[in-house]
Amino acid sequence: MKKVLIKNLAQIATPTGKKMQKGSAMAQITCISDGAVYIEDGIIRKVGQTAEVCAGLDEASCQVIDGRDKCAVPGFVDSHTHFIFGGYRPKEFIRRLEGAGYLEIMQMGGGIQATVDATRSSSYENLYENGKKRLNHMLEQGITTVEGKSGYGLDFECERKQLQVMKELNEKQPVDIVPTYLGGHAVPLEYKEDADGYIDYMIEKVLPRVKAENLAEFCDIFCEDSVFSIAQSERLLNAAKKLGFISKIHADEIVTLGGAELAARLGAASADHLLMISNQGIKDLSNSDTVATLLPCTAFCLDKPYAPARRLIDSGCAVALASDFNPGSCFANSIPLMLALAVIHMKMSIEEAICALTLNGAAALKRADILGSIEVGKQADINIIEYPDYRFLVYHTDANLVEKVIKGGELVYEK
Ligand code: NIG
Ligand code: FE
Repeated sequence: MKKVLIKNLAQIATPTGKKMQKGSAMAQITCISDGAVYIEDGIIRKVGQTAEVCAGLDEASCQVIDGRDKCAVPGFVDSHTHFIFGGYRPKEFIRRLEGAGYLEIMQMGGGIQATVDATRSSSYENLYENGKKRLNHMLEQGITTVEGKSGYGLDFECERKQLQVMKELNEKQPVDIVPTYLGGHAVPLEYKEDADGYIDYMIEKVLPRVKAENLAEFCDIFCEDSVFSIAQSERLLNAAKKLGFISKIHADEIVTLGGAELAARLGAASADHLLMISNQGIKDLSNSDTVATLLPCTAFCLDKPYAPARRLIDSGCAVALASDFNPGSCFANSIPLMLALAVIHMKMSIEEAICALTLNGAAALKRADILGSIEVGKQADINIIEYPDYRFLVYHTDANLVEKVIKGGELVYEK
């Protein structure tokens, strides 16, 4: 049995519980000073003050990690990314700076379609190598679980290529990858003017094969003006649900369409973006178990008003924070930037932001029972921060303070 002991930590800071925290409960972070964590075969067995945890323990049989002057927080869960893609879109970024809109560029054949072309012509090996580099960068920032979406293939073959790359990467490197089928990311040129026909194609030809090959757990759709309507999104997600996929929705990002209400109605794991969520949407999410996943770096990169994090939390919703890392709307996956935007601009407290990036991120991936907190029985995914207090994660605004990453009880990264 592999035994690991992290001891003498100046502080352990963690949300608690096996499910999402909603509303005011998000701010309840447990702090233990002079803390220790004892791990057996990747699972946390004891958490408490160093003297308590070490009592009766044969330290000589453990790998001991000294946490003096450091703080431990749960591994970060980035529950919304599009990190497998071919090519880049710098020209589009410049056009946006010159005033062009995100949907306007998409309608002119750029945007997501440009990445679809580049991903279709990328080899498996190229997608794999780039994916691996991006995962290394995530791990260095303390991301121990990441969700990855397809959606840059649209046809079955290329969607499968993206999902297979994620499957192999998941087996070969330490960051856990949770795969989502996002065939409903854009209407492909083959179905131009026939979005309903494309929905039929996904339902009849793609979803059953993705399921049969066990390539994805979640099904997501870009429910947006001039992309997929509420009715089309509902039709796809209902069909996916019948096959056993869990729903996610890119909801109310650019236009108020009712995506949040739909997510609540369908019992989706999460409704993501929500910059333009309606009051009814907030109400429906607060009465549901659907996590409101906010992506501040996207609002920042698109120069849009941030999602109403305060209103969501004050109304009793469970909020998660994620990167949305992708080559278009948000070519950024910086945890320090995300936390700074959430706290300084969206007015979340530091405690709420930590909960949003750990336990509630895990809930958005239906894994809050095993991930997202430093508690007995959970998987030992732990970040050791180079300062003695978790608040430095935002106070030291621009810096990556992750010094060590422990994933499933293994020390997988050290600065
Ligand atoms: O979440 N909004 C739709 N999808 C992505 C952007 C994808 C892209 O621009 O390539 C998002 O922002
Ligand atoms: Fe996205």
